[in-house]
Amino acid sequence: MNTTSNTTAIAAKLSQHASSMHNFDMRQAFTQDQKRVAKFSLQTSDIYLDYSKNLINEETIQLLLEFAQAKGVLDKFKQQLGGELVNPTEKQAAIHTALRRSGTGESVPLAKEAEQMRARMYSVRQDVVEGKLTGVGGSHFTRVINLGIGGSHLGGAMAVAALPAQADSPKVEFVCSLSPNALGFTSKEDVESCLIILSSKSFGTEETLANAQRIINYYESVGGSSSDLLRDNFYAITAAPEKAEEYGISKDNVFTMPKSVGGRYSIWSAIGLPIIFHCGMNLYEQLIKGAAGMDEHCADTSPDNNMPLILALLSYWYVNYLNTTSICINVYENCLANFPAFLQQLIMESCGKNAKLDGGMGAKSEVVWGGEGTAIQHSYMQLCHQGNQLIPIDFIVGANPPRWLKPSAYELQMHKIQIAHALAQSQALLVGRSADAAATEAQAKGIANEYISHLEMPGNRPSNSFVYGALSAEVLGALIALYEHKTALFCYLSDINPFDQWGVELGKQLSTDIKNSLIDNQDGSHSGEAQSTNGDSMDSRCDPSTAQLVKYIKSIPE
Ligand code: F6P
Repeated sequence: MNTTSNTTAIAAKLSQHASSMHNFDMRQAFTQDQKRVAKFSLQTSDIYLDYSKNLINEETIQLLLEFAQAKGVLDKFKQQLGGELVNPTEKQAAIHTALRRSGTGESVPLAKEAEQMRARMYSVRQDVVEGKLTGVGGSHFTRVINLGIGGSHLGGAMAVAALPAQADSPKVEFVCSLSPNALGFTSKEDVESCLIILSSKSFGTEETLANAQRIINYYESVGGSSSDLLRDNFYAITAAPEKAEEYGISKDNVFTMPKSVGGRYSIWSAIGLPIIFHCGMNLYEQLIKGAAGMDEHCADTSPDNNMPLILALLSYWYVNYLNTTSICINVYENCLANFPAFLQQLIMESCGKNAKLDGGMGAKSEVVWGGEGTAIQHSYMQLCHQGNQLIPIDFIVGANPPRWLKPSAYELQMHKIQIAHALAQSQALLVGRSADAAATEAQAKGIANEYISHLEMPGNRPSNSFVYGALSAEVLGALIALYEHKTALFCYLSDINPFDQWGVELGKQLSTDIKNSLIDNQDGSHSGEAQSTNGDSMDSRCDPSTAQLVKYIKSIPE
């Protein structure tokens, strides 16, 4: 029962508890409680989580679980699973979990449609591979380019980087940048052998449509017909199929995604098509299976053993009571190199809000950043160890490399080195380096006593360690769903809407005026000079800084 007075009372207890935890030291806690690791670790079918290296004790977790209970967080999650309206500002459900649910019948809305959509996508892949579907002039498709951005880019690019191509797969690429080098065609035939997927839920994102137009312009410049190219080589994935057909894309080449699937939650919809071209049907089904398994875990597991809920509660604790402002996510295998960037949109576009659904303001969330270990140890980990900021860190580790890489015994040893570094970073954050140890280190290195403090490391810094056996499509699906549910549950704890993103619209609107001031007119004349806000031709919203920037940029010869 989400009773405001109850949550207020528990929030007050959490505040008092946070004050009492001011001098909490994990190192002492491990010494005093030999069962700390057992108490603060969880296992699902694919993932082991050690969250014992956190600034928590049993009372912390107990109070956080009471808070979650009072907020009705898992009840809200079940409403989300059931297709209820959990996105009130857009009057939408959030049914990405329905797209990966097996089973049929009324009790599983959309599951049948999702299965039918996947069957269609698998069939299109097969027809492309067998040459039954071709480009202009009967060209065999050797490349697939996905034009999209945000949720129409990041999830697909991440999954394609993480999973193996099949022997019969075309080369799958993702383009979201408008930089000249982002699209490299060399001839008319080069374009004709490329299957172009225009991925855009709205079918209105400027960058995506601009990139499609770039390809069309190039093709026409080498003597091709844009209508032929749109008919044979362009496919579209969108929640606005009528716009895609109006654009000139064949009706048979348009895949529709539900409006109630958020972009950052959409690789389970037709947005997953490039993943299917890359890794094939079997692995895509494994990806879905892994995510569905995490759905069941989150829906059916008791709160104290519920991995997404525990992670959401830890972030809620850090952000609201220990005043952290970011979380760092470090992956320790190259196949997951794109995972932190994917999580940035998933988490920051879901949680990065101030307004609460009860009408209040002041919701807090965490900046998400991170990278690939061990490289990050030679870049930003210095700050995590000795900086003034308290930054919780997620370390994501595979006990073995992906099996499809067929690692030799030597490669397995190399991977173990990588794992050793991951565990060492987590341990170093915990243990730190005391003044005495720093003095010993300084003496050994001939560093003057006055600089001993420069070698000290506070330690007592929190981290979560996630370990899976070996990265597979199923493990990846579970990892993605784990963070999807952590994100939604964090938002339910914070009383914010996980599924809208009104903060991204203003920039898009303002760019129109600026673009019109920057881009020369077709006849080569210059559009109105950028003016400051003294009422000249620039829109009155333009500030003096932006006006001057536009003016300066226009003054630089092309
Ligand atoms: O960044 C804003 C946003 O709307 C994201 O939420 C979305 O994933 C992305 O732009 C792309 O939108 P679309 O798929 O409609 O092109």
